[in-house]
Amino acid sequence: MSQSVSASASGQFKIGGDLSVNRLGFGAMRITGKGIWGPPADLAASIATLKRLPELDINLIDTADSYGPYVSEDLIHEALHPYKGLVIATKGGLTRHGPDRWAPLGRPEYLRQCVMTSLNRLGVKQIDLWQLHRIDSKVPRDEQFKVIADMRAEGLIRHVGLSEVSVEEIEAAGKYFPVTTVQNQYNLVDRKSEAVLDFCDKQNIGFIPWFPLAAGELAKPGSSLSKIAEQHHVTTGAIALAWLLKRSKVMLPIPGTGSVDHLVENVAGASVKLSDAEFAELDNQGRKAA
Ligand SMILES: NC(=O)c1ccc[n+]([C@@H]2O[C@H](COP(=O)([O-])OP(=O)(O)OC[C@H]3O[C@@H](n4cnc5c(N)ncnc54)[C@H](OP(=O)(O)O)[C@@H]3O)[C@@H](O)[C@H]2O)c1
Repeated sequence: MSQSVSASASGQFKIGGDLSVNRLGFGAMRITGKGIWGPPADLAASIATLKRLPELDINLIDTADSYGPYVSEDLIHEALHPYKGLVIATKGGLTRHGPDRWAPLGRPEYLRQCVMTSLNRLGVKQIDLWQLHRIDSKVPRDEQFKVIADMRAEGLIRHVGLSEVSVEEIEAAGKYFPVTTVQNQYNLVDRKSEAVLDFCDKQNIGFIPWFPLAAGELAKPGSSLSKIAEQHHVTTGAIALAWLLKRSKVMLPIPGTGSVDHLVENVAGASVKLSDAEFAELDNQGRKAA
């Protein structure tokens, strides 16, 4: 793969109108252990992957206190602090009870603990983008939004994002703080969030699709994306990412990997310019598969 691969080819987006990032980012969930629990099996590979990000002009890194838990934030600190030019977007509001086990907790004092401890682990005075991982249905949402608004007013958080939300929930949160990003599950074959994406596009809210590679399925050779991938001399995963980037100007994909080789393959998607016909063909295939 050529060394000229650069995330800057994906175009830029200003989070909250003032925090400019290259649209193709990185998801730091896969640099932890199996079940997103504990340290990674190959620590050196995870650190090498993180250190490679700035060289590929990736400057949006998505993480969460619950990845590991804490492992992802700690490794980001170890590999990349003081983050010159990097935007570290973290999340809070999920507790962990073992591998692959997650539960929301939205009590205001816990959300404040999430932010305060992420600040410590990341070694920053202010979190660039803090995302509420889930709205906790067992706690009045206004209480959750209020403490986030307070932490923003106190300067602990620069911009606020939400995750797995509806348009109605974005509007409800918007009464407390500007919602600058929304992170929902979305990819070529998972289109449940089309209405939310269209809303974000109209409002210029960054849309961060999680599982952009359908947790790796779309990156497998021999998938239905192979023909177009061969024509562009890239991998199928790169085509899935190029499709996302063309889908909307507010799209900020964060493919996850703990492998430098996979990272470079994915960033090659930033330079792929799909024709309108290719975009439509992929769109059609994706809708059928969904
Ligand atoms: N907000 C939420 O609730 C939520 C939920 C899930 C994830 N997220 C965020 O979204 C990010 C992306 O989601 P994700 O990591 O779960 O899914 P993904 O990006 O769709 O896929 C990641 C998987 O694909 C594999 N992969 C990546 N590049 C590849 C390549 N070029 N060739 C072959 N396999 C490849 C990775 O394995 P290797 O490590 O072997 O490359 C990994 O298993 C996460 O890292 C996290 O930051 C958010």
